[in-house]
Amino acid sequence: MTRGWTKRDIGDLTGKVAIVTGGNSGIGYETSLALAENYATVVLAVRNMNKGHEAVDKIRSEFPNADVHVLKLDLNDLESVKEFSEEFRKKFRSLSILINNAGVMKPPRRETKDGFESQFGINYLGHFALTGLLLDLITKTPDSRVISLGSLTAHNLKPEFSQFSGSKSKTSLLKSYAQSKLACMYFAKELQYRFRSRNIDAKSIACHPGIAQTYLFGKGSRTLKTRLTRASLKIIGQSAETAAYPILYAATEYSIRGGEYIGPDGRKGIKGYPTELELLDQQFVENVSSNLWILSEKLTGITYKF
Ligand SMILES: NC(=O)c1ccc[n+]([C@@H]2O[C@H](COP(=O)([O-])OP(=O)(O)OC[C@H]3O[C@@H](n4cnc5c(N)ncnc54)[C@H](OP(=O)(O)O)[C@@H]3O)[C@@H](O)[C@H]2O)c1
Repeated sequence: MTRGWTKRDIGDLTGKVAIVTGGNSGIGYETSLALAENYATVVLAVRNMNKGHEAVDKIRSEFPNADVHVLKLDLNDLESVKEFSEEFRKKFRSLSILINNAGVMKPPRRETKDGFESQFGINYLGHFALTGLLLDLITKTPDSRVISLGSLTAHNLKPEFSQFSGSKSKTSLLKSYAQSKLACMYFAKELQYRFRSRNIDAKSIACHPGIAQTYLFGKGSRTLKTRLTRASLKIIGQSAETAAYPILYAATEYSIRGGEYIGPDGRKGIKGYPTELELLDQQFVENVSSNLWILSEKLTGITYKF
């Protein structure tokens, strides 16, 4: 267990290619910035190219020699995930760090282009498909890592994944969000199990950022309730920069073995320095995890070829 780890502890990442989904905003932006500062080649995988280019300009204004790129990825549409993977392959031959960061929380109730409940589709199934489509690059790159984003909302939650595969879910939007994040956490564990059981030199790690005031909360809304929520998050939570530390720790720290769950070490996990948490091991159920994998391959049509 390491106390006091910050982005200043990141080593030299020269030669490493990283993808950060949702790298244009919030925690994903801060993650991209820190990786680029430490000489990684960083690909911002974004749904809005203008926002992506603005983020690249911002990174370059701080680090003029940063090796940053933007590619289009809309996790709301599996066809876009396939196109992203093809474009990425045209430009890069390895993938050291895949950070499945992008996410939505409580968006207007709707379905993805492929007919999934939108939070389950974007936060989880899109990333499941993306990782599967890039698997050969990940497995052939030494010491590669796949990072999945969980959330405090998923802690001690009973998995109920199958009901989120369709759009007709009557469950509350917050519950759907929490289930989508729990699915990401289960995915991280199952992927690590599959790497290890096949002697593959790749690591899968789950993490959660605590609470940070970002655009995740009430995106596009200017109501009094949203403004009050954001203000209170600012008081109780941490900055997007420090919220990125668990991700950066999982992605770069030498001592990581794979299978860990990393989160802030402060009270109730809301903020603090990154540390290894035991919670995911405690709430993990093996057959739920393998059933989720089978369901995800069926829903996305992406079969993992190890
Ligand atoms: N903030 C917190 O307290 C907190 C707590 C627990 C977990 N998390 C997790 O942290 C991650 C980052 O969230 P954040 O707080 O940094 O929020 P954010 O600032 O809203 O960033 C979310 C990112 O995801 C992108 N995105 C949304 N839908 C997408 C899609 N269909 N395809 C591709 N990209 C898409 C957004 O793009 P646009 O800019 O175009 O919208 C944005 O770049 C999420 O997975 C979230 O669940 C956050």
